[in-house]
Amino acid sequence: MKVLMIGSGGREHVLTWKLAQSPRVEKIYAAPGNGGMAELAECVDLSVEDIPGCLAFAKEHQIDLTVVGPEVPLVMGMVDAFEAAGLKVFGPNKHCAQFEGSKAFTKGFLFRHNIPTAAYKEYTDFDEIIKDLGVYGYPMVIKADGLAAGKGVLIPENEADARAGMEMIMKKREFGEAGDKVVIEEFLTGQEASMLCFVDGKTIVPMESAQDYKRAYDNDEGLNTGGMGTYSPNVLFADETLNKRIKAEILDPIIDGFIADGMNFKGILFIGLMIENGVPKVLEFNVRFGDPEAQSVLMRMESDLVDIMEAVIEGKLADCEIKWSNKEAVCVVIASGGYPGPYQKGKVITGIQDVKECVVFHAGTKLVNGELQTNGGRVLCVTALGETRETARKTVYANIGKIHFEGAQYRTDIAKFN
Ligand code: AMP
Ligand code: GLY
Repeated sequence: MKVLMIGSGGREHVLTWKLAQSPRVEKIYAAPGNGGMAELAECVDLSVEDIPGCLAFAKEHQIDLTVVGPEVPLVMGMVDAFEAAGLKVFGPNKHCAQFEGSKAFTKGFLFRHNIPTAAYKEYTDFDEIIKDLGVYGYPMVIKADGLAAGKGVLIPENEADARAGMEMIMKKREFGEAGDKVVIEEFLTGQEASMLCFVDGKTIVPMESAQDYKRAYDNDEGLNTGGMGTYSPNVLFADETLNKRIKAEILDPIIDGFIADGMNFKGILFIGLMIENGVPKVLEFNVRFGDPEAQSVLMRMESDLVDIMEAVIEGKLADCEIKWSNKEAVCVVIASGGYPGPYQKGKVITGIQDVKECVVFHAGTKLVNGELQTNGGRVLCVTALGETRETARKTVYANIGKIHFEGAQYRTDIAKFN
């Protein structure tokens, strides 16, 4: 079969790598792809937001399966456009993608179905919200309702900072339309963990767990990023009592809620959790694989991903057995100097060919006249499997220093336990 992969990040590279292993796949196109995906797929110069362009390409090239990696085209309705044209496509439709496109939509769903989450209020009027600043005490959580490239959450410690944050979102419109509506939430404490799940409308199946490291620097210092590294399985989920609570209090009510609300959710549901004293609460939903969670998790998947994606699309996930390796995975991201703040692109990358026993997924790279250059904040994801987390970690760190580009930075404490 012919597959079209939409996207250009590390998540899309690992998806392409996994799909390419399927004996059923003859050819993969990537729109727009990246320097690493180019080794497995034919890269096509189409933006992920160009829904008519991607659809025309899929029709012209008789694509059998399109996989939508990032949230932006999902929220824009790419899946609806492909379905309307009778094409097979993996990902939630526009209605369901609101779980990532609107924080208020998700909170409404969670409350309606009694799924544990932080208390919240939503606003469209600046003066109304200013009256309520501090209703849940400080720190407080402020979220721009819409998509803000992972930057739309503020956690001010006091009223002055909260007011400044509200002005930034609602008056200066720093996140544009995404800030027309704002959600404020009670601040939850505990340990964060994410669960990636396959959902076919009737059945939800969690994948193996992963832990993401969001801060830019070692010891969780520095700014929040898209994720600087992951390991799988996540030690938090070794607790069977916690897993039972998550199933009974979160996963089962989610599926019942989808059915009650008439939502035919098909694709990936990424559940962000906060866990305190064994009590899980939902922080957020995303509607696509996590990046770099997917790198660690899919390295451990033994089943054919095409079969699973088809089962999701056909509503047959309950009949599908998903096999996982007992090995553990570690992924460390190499980022551009300055990330997550301003950074330069176009730095020449060398040394990848010297890396042993790891898979180097590309997140932000580009081939320019045959030369590999940096093309994003997160550049490469060095990923390894090991009998234990510690052996996987040693393999990654024994190799990562072989890769060079000007300004390269990475954390040295991913998957490290003292
Ligand atoms: P979100 O995009 O909703 O996941 O928020 C981004 C990050 O903000 C999360 O990963 C948490 O670290 C933090 N966060 C979001 N909501 C809350 C909350 N209610 N309490 C504490 N931290 C939160
Ligand atoms: N690594 C977090 C995310 O993909 O949203």
